[in-house]
Amino acid sequence: MSTDKRTITVRAPVNIAVIKYWGKRDEKLIIPLNDSISGTLDMEQLCATTSVAISPSFKCNQMWLNGEEVDMTANERLFRCIQEVKTMVGTSQWPADHHLQIASRNNFPTAAGLASSAAGYACLMYALCRLFGVDDAERISTLARLGSGSACRSVYGGFVQWVAGTDHQSSIARQILDEEAWPSMRVLVLVVSDHRKDTSSSSGMKSSVETSDLMKKRVQDIVPQRITQMLTAIKERNFHDFAEITMRDSNQFHAICQDTYPPIHYMNDVSWSVVSLVHYFNKLYGCNKVAYTFDAGPNACLYVLENVVPELLALITAIYGKSESKLEVQGIEYKKHPELNDSLQKYAVVNACPGALKYVISTKLGTGPQVLSTSFDANCLIEESGGIKNNDV
Ligand code: PMV
Repeated sequence: MSTDKRTITVRAPVNIAVIKYWGKRDEKLIIPLNDSISGTLDMEQLCATTSVAISPSFKCNQMWLNGEEVDMTANERLFRCIQEVKTMVGTSQWPADHHLQIASRNNFPTAAGLASSAAGYACLMYALCRLFGVDDAERISTLARLGSGSACRSVYGGFVQWVAGTDHQSSIARQILDEEAWPSMRVLVLVVSDHRKDTSSSSGMKSSVETSDLMKKRVQDIVPQRITQMLTAIKERNFHDFAEITMRDSNQFHAICQDTYPPIHYMNDVSWSVVSLVHYFNKLYGCNKVAYTFDAGPNACLYVLENVVPELLALITAIYGKSESKLEVQGIEYKKHPELNDSLQKYAVVNACPGALKYVISTKLGTGPQVLSTSFDANCLIEESGGIKNNDV
């Protein structure tokens, strides 16, 4: 392979866990204490985009995240991920006098509990590996795991299981179903806050492992059963069971946060009002029509089947819309919201919380990462002469 200036631009998706990863057995290698399962979201609405360029004319390694330069040596995991690729490809492909420039950006709030690190690391490792001709998904996923555990799941589309394993080789993600296999599955992300979270997932889970008694029960007894049940629900497209397991697992994850000492608090009053709304809606229909799940932040992710979305959005708008029942919905559009029935109408009036949501992202399941370009074209975030493009500042 030529050692001249080379570049690649890729995009990678966010994933939202329905069985949560929370706790490591190995901090350095990021081996989790339990298996987890997630859905990969469509990149049209939520993705990280990363350009990587390598050249002997670049003076040093540099990286920009959302237009801001970051100190690559200060971030141990980032540094390690890059070193791993360097070792893997060797000096014939990555000579000592060649430097990297990396520019990455998200089209959604960074570190707001929207799995930005998962998309970011999946994107970076996919870009770096593909730049050097490595396209083995399992290898890329394993490298992405070293940056941010959940990133290993973002290397695949559809529903994905991260098998905890016990060491670097056995801790791997694999696809359960591709993005087309349950075509009516939709996801609504209710953005409660786009501020950075107070407790990072890394320090939060470390603290839970050290102090939570519930954690042991979860890891030993509960998750193994739930994984089996969830795999069956997904393979049989059984939404009712899928939803119950998803909600129970989210609740247990946040119970563990509360059982951590000192306790960790990710959900807020608006998050809890979404929990009540979903249970009310499901009870009214006598079966689960919607499932909520919350990561390390207050935003709600709702898994829901397509035919339920218009009514659900009408209810969400009636409760959380600002003036004149308006609520911005980005992404997949639906036909005009139907009139709410009397019960839902009453619920919306009693529980009105105008302005509590910033906006809603309407999306569905999507594919794993994609290459957008392999030249310094309009997709590339880096100038051919080095540095980020002005429009990325
Ligand atoms: O991969 P991390 O370190 O960002 O941890 C992710 C933890 C959760 O989002 C809360 C759960 C999960 O499985 O994604």
